[in-house]
Amino acid sequence: MTSTGTPRHFLNIDDFSYSELRGMLNAAGSLKARLKDGDRPQLLKDKVLAMIFDKQSTRTRVSFDVGMRQLGGETIMLSGQEMQLSREETLADTARVMSRYVDAIMIRILSHADLTELADYSTVPVINGLTRRAHPCQIMADLMTFEEHRGPIKGAKVAWVGDSNNVLHSWVNAAELFECELTIAVPDEYWPEKDLMLDIEKAGKWVKLIEDPREAAENADLIIADTWVSMGDTDAAERRRVLKPYQVNTNLMALANKDALFMHCLPAHRGDEVTDEVIDGPQSVVFDEAENRLHAQKAILCWSLGVDV
Ligand code: CP
Repeated sequence: MTSTGTPRHFLNIDDFSYSELRGMLNAAGSLKARLKDGDRPQLLKDKVLAMIFDKQSTRTRVSFDVGMRQLGGETIMLSGQEMQLSREETLADTARVMSRYVDAIMIRILSHADLTELADYSTVPVINGLTRRAHPCQIMADLMTFEEHRGPIKGAKVAWVGDSNNVLHSWVNAAELFECELTIAVPDEYWPEKDLMLDIEKAGKWVKLIEDPREAAENADLIIADTWVSMGDTDAAERRRVLKPYQVNTNLMALANKDALFMHCLPAHRGDEVTDEVIDGPQSVVFDEAENRLHAQKAILCWSLGVDV
């Protein structure tokens, strides 16, 4: 509604330069510090964010909503099912209409092509709240969390253990930009699909793809797990069987550096991809990671709406 010129979409990590993302991370840190001091700058006063969820969410939904309120803005929450989208109104028409009402749109929709189409027709910023390809807001929170605990991520050894999914794809893009060494351990059965493979190849020396979770964990500064059954997966029992050796447990964590962190974007399936001992243990930062969704997304919203923090 208030956008002029090209809208500042936030769709993929690899749409950005290192310095643009670093600027957003710095802004997130500043907003977090100010909030802890009781300072809630009304940077988005009178701005309205429409949030469309085609799939379930706890963190994305609540953190965007609270973030907008803390910055003086408002949100409208919609499910894909209650919109005319579910009755075959096109994404293009939806984008053009919504752009006349609101200042920004955040959407969770599995099809990345649908996200891109919405963004192409929107004259206000569109933010990716998760597609099957990417989860860029999550990775901003992950980077912020690592750096709060361990300092610059540059040069850090990061291990991804499990299957290949959207969170991993955004980590691959981040590894190249932030120059950390990402080792991905996935079973042959869940080897990355073509577009992720292309980005792994593009990342060059920063990303290594192997099968052995123990090799990935060795001397790691950070071990990341994610749910084995992502939204849209229909083969839960088979995935659990194949991925069993990829569980992050105390034996796997013991191979990493002694002060290595454990992250998981949540929701976690305890006893599958991670044990209680690890996720509730001293190396786990999963709740800081969840909290940082709030601060990182406030910075993303300010960037998208052209507001300096
Ligand atoms: N990590 C994440 O995106 O959580 P939700 O699915 O609860 O939003």
